Amino acid sequence: MWVGIQHLHGSFRYIVLLLLVAALVLAFRGLSGKKPFTEGQRKVTLWALIATHIQLVLGLILYLGQWGMYSLMLQDMSNPEARFKALEHPVGMILGIVCITLGYSLSKRAGTDKGKHVRVAIWMGLGLLIVFAQIPWPFMKSFGSW
Ligand code: HEM
Repeated sequence: MWVGIQHLHGSFRYIVLLLLVAALVLAFRGLSGKKPFTEGQRKVTLWALIATHIQLVLGLILYLGQWGMYSLMLQDMSNPEARFKALEHPVGMILGIVCITLGYSLSKRAGTDKGKHVRVAIWMGLGLLIVFAQIPWPFMKSFGSW
C-alpha cells in the first residue's frame, strides 16, 4: 500500500507544479496588462490550491503512517539523506503550502483586481519556489531519487 501512495505522491507533483505555474502565468499577465481577475482565473488558482492540499494529505499519510521509520531518521541528523527525508522535505513543503494558501485567501480579500493579481503572484510565487526546492529531484540531491 505504501508503494502505491508513494508513486501517487511522486507523480502528483507534476499536476501541482503545472497548476501553480498556470495560476502564476495568469497573475503575472494580469499585472502587466491591467487585466481583470476573471472567474476562470479564480478557478485555476483554486485548483492549484486544491492540488497542493491533496499533496499535503498524501505526504502526511506517508510520513505519519511510517512514523516508526521517520522517527529513527530524525535521530540521525548528521546524515544528509535522513535529514532531507525526515525533516527538510516535510517542514519545507508545509511552509511552501502555507504561502500558497495565503496567496489564494489574501487574493480573495483584495478589493481590486490588481490587488488579487499581486497577492497571487507574490505568495504563490514564493510557495512555488519553496516547493520546487524541496522536491527530491535526482539532479539536485547527491543521494538521487527516493
Ligand atoms: C507540494 C508539496 C509536496 C510535493 C510536490 C512533494 C513531492 C514529493 C516527491 C516528488 C517525493 C518522491 C517520491 C518518489 O520519488 O517516490 C516525495 C516523497 C515523500 N514526501 Fe513529499 N511532497 C510534498 C509534500 C509533502 C509533505 C507536506 C509531506 C509530509 C508532511 C511529505 C512527505 C513525503 C514522504 C514521507 C515521502 C517519501 C515517501 C516514501 O518513500 O515512503 N511530502 N514527495
